[in-house]
Amino acid sequence: MPESALIAAIRKIDDEFRGRFDQVCDAASLEQVRIDFLGRKGRISRTFESIGSAPPEEKKEAGRLLNELKDRVQSAVAEKAASVKAKKAAGASFDPSLPGNTPPVGRVHPLTSVMRRIKSCFQHMGFSVAQGPEVETDYYNFEALNIPKGHPARDMQDTLYISDSVVLRTHTSPVQVRVMEKTKPPVRIIAPGRVFRRDTPDASHSPVFHQVEGLCVDENVSFSDLKGVILALARELFGSDMKIRFRPSFFPFTEPSAEYDFTCMICRGKGCRVCKNTGWVEISGAGMVNPEVFRFVGIDSERFTGYAFGMGVERVAMLLYEVHDIRLFYENDVRFLYQF
Ligand code: DAH
Repeated sequence: MPESALIAAIRKIDDEFRGRFDQVCDAASLEQVRIDFLGRKGRISRTFESIGSAPPEEKKEAGRLLNELKDRVQSAVAEKAASVKAKKAAGASFDPSLPGNTPPVGRVHPLTSVMRRIKSCFQHMGFSVAQGPEVETDYYNFEALNIPKGHPARDMQDTLYISDSVVLRTHTSPVQVRVMEKTKPPVRIIAPGRVFRRDTPDASHSPVFHQVEGLCVDENVSFSDLKGVILALARELFGSDMKIRFRPSFFPFTEPSAEYDFTCMICRGKGCRVCKNTGWVEISGAGMVNPEVFRFVGIDSERFTGYAFGMGVERVAMLLYEVHDIRLFYENDVRFLYQF
């Protein structure tokens, strides 16, 4: 027997109710649904009226279905009303002025922050940042820097060899060569990074440490330009009473060469254990690029001159934070790291 139009209408009301009910999100939309379906002139009441005029064989089934639908709609509306009310009550007790739960926050490692300060200072002076590989060839680490075979710096004691011709870079100076090979002057770069040496760890030695290399090549670049940038960095990091000094020295890749020191900021130059009573702390070496290095990279040393410098990042950090043992930087003891 085909379904009567009345029973089909009841099923349609059922479907529509489910659709509308799913959209209910607050008390107002729930009340509208209640009026539309359960109200005196709502869909369900009006359908009850039309059952009265239906043929007797349909009345019974339609009445049963409609009563069942009415019960279901009533209890769904009641249940939803209770949950909307409960949500509103919970919302009222939410205090947005209470402090949140703060998750533990890490710190920037002191070496990272010193590195960032050094970088930013040089960037403000017009240097850009260059990078090179930590696993380096003998050619870049030594040969092209005018460190010939048999030079003491190549001694197995200092260098960690991967193979006969590949090493872990012992300094950041090879980045100078890599940059000059690719870039015509003017060149003005710094190269920060990790370096490796076969050293036994103690208070002032670590087999892995950090350097920032600097290189400036142009016409008329002089040693006094070098002193100027080193002094600017020292004052930026330590304040305007910081002094620097250069002592004659030797590096195969610079001529003339120097080592440079900063005032010992732990004793302010008066002399202490850290500076071995000299009042000065050695930072690294520097000098004018050796024409021999220019020859390797094809830069005309008649026309261009350049200065280069190294910088021991740990040494700067030790002075800045008054840390007396380099190993503290690598042990990752949070009691140490949380002081910065
Ligand atoms: N590479 C040297 C070292 O690790 C430091 C250095 C000295 C770098 C003189 C330079 C320089 O650029 O000109 O000890």
